[in-house]
Amino acid sequence: MKQVDLLYTGKAKSVYRTDDPEVYIVKFRDDITAFDGEKKDTLSGKGRYNAEVSSFLFGYLEEHGIGTHYLASLEPATIAVRRLEMFPLEVIVRNVAAGSIVRRYPFREGEPLDPPVIVIDYKSDAHHDPMLNDDLIYALGLATPEELDQIKAMALAVNEVLSEYLDQRGITLVDFKLEFGHHDGEIVVGDEISMDSMRLWDKETGASLDKDVYRFNKGDVMETYAGVAKRILSPPQRG
Ligand code: C5P
Repeated sequence: MKQVDLLYTGKAKSVYRTDDPEVYIVKFRDDITAFDGEKKDTLSGKGRYNAEVSSFLFGYLEEHGIGTHYLASLEPATIAVRRLEMFPLEVIVRNVAAGSIVRRYPFREGEPLDPPVIVIDYKSDAHHDPMLNDDLIYALGLATPEELDQIKAMALAVNEVLSEYLDQRGITLVDFKLEFGHHDGEIVVGDEISMDSMRLWDKETGASLDKDVYRFNKGDVMETYAGVAKRILSPPQRG
């Protein structure tokens, strides 16, 4: 399989076509952005950590019966994925109130959300990713009721598998964003699952272990990403 041409450049990843029409190559760049692209930087090595964590977690989900677009890790920061027809949806699962839900609604930061809350945003830079509801999703033709039910069920299944995995490594999965697409009539998880797309708190100290460190200047971003990547790729903590 050979990389052919650049298909799409996002804020932190680039997607390339290959000589196999069903396979794309995703490069995790060292770019990092926040606040709808208002804050941006390049942090050398960041792409590699996000690619490693994404590859590992996609593989882990596959082992637990959840389909993803992941095929293989190539060179550092680069993975091969199945071509998907994407739903233009950002599916966010929240276990603990933090971030935009605290700014917009009367939740207290750190308040547990049980059962978890699913929020779905419209993935559209032109519209600044507004929040959707089921009726808007159907009216805009973004997914059918059957597809949306399946997407929500898969998002909750991913939440269960990842929450338990991270908990065993001393990490609370506060919230995370998934994207979904179709492959051969099957809905699977696409995009990435990384420190850029999850909110992770250290169970003991409550310290942020994710992009909030960059958003809110909470410390050394690369040190945080390197440390959390190591923890995620390690065996469970004892005790
Ligand atoms: O900003 P907000 O609190 O709504 O983000 C919820 C979760 O979704 C966070 O983990 C954040 O990193 C992730 N997210 C994302 N991409 C977006 C919006 C949110 O990965 N465009």
